[in-house]
Amino acid sequence: MRPRIRKSVMVIHVVVSVALLGEVWGLVVLNTAAALTKDLELAHAAYRLMPALVFAGGIPLSLTALITGILLALTSHWGLFRYYWTAAKLVLLVAVICVGMFLFDPEGMAAATEGGRAAVATRQWGQVAALGTQIVMLMIATALSVFKPRGKLR
Ligand code: HEM
Repeated sequence: MRPRIRKSVMVIHVVVSVALLGEVWGLVVLNTAAALTKDLELAHAAYRLMPALVFAGGIPLSLTALITGILLALTSHWGLFRYYWTAAKLVLLVAVICVGMFLFDPEGMAAATEGGRAAVATRQWGQVAALGTQIVMLMIATALSVFKPRGKLR
């Protein structure tokens, strides 16, 4: 890949990856607020807004980070499975996507709080925990990107 094109892909990769971290942080804040508030209508409104963040943020950002990351890895000396840090980042991002798909459930929470009903606290805090796990994985991926540990897989 020509240096100019590679740098452009890298800019997109860094912007979308770090934006993804910001988007997940926004969801952590919204879910924590929904779990703590006594205003049940506010909690319901927060859960109803979350899918917009997921569809306009989480899904396109994570897929773009995945595609650009794989592109950068395959077109450089880093490779996809040559160094631990690139392989670990791939696993971490796939894990972040899976947690989002299988554990994070804003639509279910919106349905559970319909008509001013209170959601079960363990379910609400379970959502915060799922998002917190995503944040930790994304922070580890960011640190790996900057430190690029030398350890090789093969
Ligand atoms: C989990 C979300 C991700 C985050 C937060 C992230 C973050 C970053 C950052 C901040 C950089 C710039 C590092 C520098 O200063 O050089 C970078 C570069 C890079 N990332 Fe990611 N990334 C993610 C996912 C991925 C994935 C899934 C792959 C594919 C295995 C990947 C492969 C790469 C490669 C090869 C570079 C270029 C390193 C270089 O040539 O210097 N990233 N990433």
